[in-house]
Amino acid sequence: MKKILIAPSILAADFSALGNEIKRAEEAGADMIHVDVMDGHFVPNITIGSAVVRDIRKVTKLPLDVHLMISDPLKHAGSFIDAGSDIITVHAESEKRLGKVITNIKSRGVKAGVSIKPKTGIAPIKRYLKDIDMVLIMTVEPGFGGQAFMADMLPKIRNLRKIYSGDIQVDGGIDEDTAPLVIEAGANILVAGTSVYKSKDLRSTIKSMKGTWEN
Ligand code: DX5
Ligand code: ZN
Repeated sequence: MKKILIAPSILAADFSALGNEIKRAEEAGADMIHVDVMDGHFVPNITIGSAVVRDIRKVTKLPLDVHLMISDPLKHAGSFIDAGSDIITVHAESEKRLGKVITNIKSRGVKAGVSIKPKTGIAPIKRYLKDIDMVLIMTVEPGFGGQAFMADMLPKIRNLRKIYSGDIQVDGGIDEDTAPLVIEAGANILVAGTSVYKSKDLRSTIKSMKGTWEN
């Protein structure tokens, strides 16, 4: 079984105190920091850009896991790499030249992930699996934090795990109740926004999501 990693999503943090919020997650045992980039076009919401990633880079040594929910990742991935991202994830639905984006990201020495929305199956990404480091299976419709976990994504995780030995990340509605379900299905990187940042005890929430699989 792969090591379980927790990636708190800063979307649920207090943006007026972002540096402290990242430290808080780091001290509580976070394994990486998940950064949700939304453009108001690929998804209905707008969040942050590469300038924020650049400044976050200065306050943590944790890997920066940047989730691009944007329409033209081929155009913009470079600026997020320049800003210090360690993992860049692009949506399969957002880009016809997915192979090219993956090659570009990898050629910069950064890990490449591909994400699929709830209605997208694994067939469209199969041909890229050998080239990428991570698949992000969305367990909510991308766009907003605080939504309910979609349990009908569990078979998708299970099916992907049968054919893919890389990292499987899940994102949306992950908390102490849903973490064991996605881990059992084969996910090993858990993004968690609301459940971590709204917790009174971040350390115990993170530890509990890792569960008995912690090593
Ligand atoms: C949703 C984002 C998520 C979001 C998760 O589009 O990709 O990363 O922050 O938030 P929670 O954990 O609150 O569902
Ligand atoms: Zn995300």
